[in-house]
Amino acid sequence: MAERATWTTRIGFLVAAIGSAVGLGNIWQFPFKTGANGGSSFLVFYLIAVVAIGFPALLGEFVLGRRTRLNAIDAFGELGHRQWRIVGALGVATGFWILSYYNVVGGWVMRYIVGSATGAYFDAPAEYFGAVSAGPEAIAAQALFVLVVVGIVALGVEDGIEKATKVMVPSIVLLMLAMAVWAFTLEGGAAGYEYFLSPDLDTLLANAGTAIPFAVSQAFFTLSLGMAIMVTFSSYVGNDDNLAVDGGIIVGTNTLIGVLAGLVVFPVLFANGIDPATSGPSAIFIAMASGFAELPAGRLLGVVFFGVVLIAALSSAISLLEVSVSWATDNYDIGRVPLAAGLGVGLFVLGLPSAWDTAWLTWFDNLAYQLLLPVSVLFAMLFVGWVLGDEALTEIRQGMSGMDWFGPAWLWTVRIVVVAGVAVTLVLGLRTLFVEGAIVPPV
Ligand code: PHE
Repeated sequence: MAERATWTTRIGFLVAAIGSAVGLGNIWQFPFKTGANGGSSFLVFYLIAVVAIGFPALLGEFVLGRRTRLNAIDAFGELGHRQWRIVGALGVATGFWILSYYNVVGGWVMRYIVGSATGAYFDAPAEYFGAVSAGPEAIAAQALFVLVVVGIVALGVEDGIEKATKVMVPSIVLLMLAMAVWAFTLEGGAAGYEYFLSPDLDTLLANAGTAIPFAVSQAFFTLSLGMAIMVTFSSYVGNDDNLAVDGGIIVGTNTLIGVLAGLVVFPVLFANGIDPATSGPSAIFIAMASGFAELPAGRLLGVVFFGVVLIAALSSAISLLEVSVSWATDNYDIGRVPLAAGLGVGLFVLGLPSAWDTAWLTWFDNLAYQLLLPVSVLFAMLFVGWVLGDEALTEIRQGMSGMDWFGPAWLWTVRIVVVAGVAVTLVLGLRTLFVEGAIVPPV
C-alpha cells in the first residue's frame, strides 16, 4: 500500500482529516439546516452535539484505525468478531449514499464559478438557482464533478489535493471573515444575527424533537463520521500522536468554518427578505450570489469564493472515494483506474434523481441524517465503548502523557453520552421519517 505512506506525518494526517471534514457540510448544509430548524436554538444543539458527541466519536474512530492500522471494514473484523465488519461496510455504504448527492451540489458549485465569471446570476440570483440546480444542466455539472473526483483518485494524485487543502483552509477562513464583515454592513441584516445568535429557552424546548436529530447528524456529516473515513485516515497515524489534541484541532477548525458561514448567510438572507426557514438547499447559493451581484469586483470575488468552496468539496469527496478504493485494492486484485471509474459510474447513477429534482436531493439527505448516519455511528461507538472497552482505553492513552484523566473520561463519555445521545437521535429521526412521512420518496 504505497499510498498509505504519504500520511504518516502528523501534519499530513491533520491536513487530510481537515480536508475531509471541511466541505459542503460546513458551507452549504450547516446554514440551511440551521435555518430550517429554528436558527439560534439549532446552533445551541449543534454546538452541544459537536462537543459531547461528535468529538468523542471522532476519537473513537481514530482509536479503531490506529489500533488496527487497517481500513474501516477490516478494522472491525480484526478487533472483534468477523460479523462486526458489517458496521464498517455500513459506514462505506453511508458515505456512498451521501456522496451521490454531494456530487450534485459539487456540480452546482462548478456551475456558480462559471456564473460568477460571466455575471449570469447578477440580475436574478434566486431564479438562477432554480434554473441550474435541477434538470439536464444540473446532471451535466454533476457528471463533470464526478469526473474530476474519479480522475484524481484514479491517477493517485491526491498529493496535489493535499497541497490545495493547505491553501484552502486559510483561504476559506479569510474569505468568510471578509464576507462576514461585509454582511455586517448590510441594511436589514441585523435581524440575521438575532436569528442566528440569540437563543431563548422556549424556542429551544419547542424545537428539541426535530432539531436534535438534525444537529447530531450535522455534527457527524461535517466531521465525516460514520462514513469509514476517519478510521482509515487514523490508521496511518503515529503512536506518539496525542489523538485528543489532533481531534481538538480538527473539530475546532471545522466548527469555526460552519459558524462563519452562518455569520455570512443569515444577515444576507434577512437583508434580501429571504426566509431562512424555507430557503432550503438554495440558501448559501442565493445569499452569496446576491452579495457578489452588489459588490465591486463581484465577478472576481465570486470566482474566488466558489473556487475555494470547490476545493473544499473536492477534498471531501476524494477522501470518501479514496477510502473505498484503498479497501478494495487491499482485498481484491483490481486496478485503481477501473475501480475508481466503476465506482464513479455507480455514484453518478445513484445521484441522478437528486440532480434531476431537488426534492429527491432532500429525500436522500433526510435519509442520511435521520437513519444512516445515526445507525452507523451508534454501532461503531457501541463497538468501541462496550466491545473494545479497555483496549480502546489503552489505545487512546498512547501519546497522551500527562493527561491520565482523559482516557477514562473519554471512554465513559463514549459508553454513556454518545451511545445514549445517538440512540435518542435515531428514535427522533425515525419518528420524523415514519410519522411525518419523510420516508416516502417524492415520486
Ligand atoms: N465532512 C464533509 C463535509 O462537511 C462531508 C463529506 C465527507 C461528504 C466526505 C462526503 C464525503 O462536507
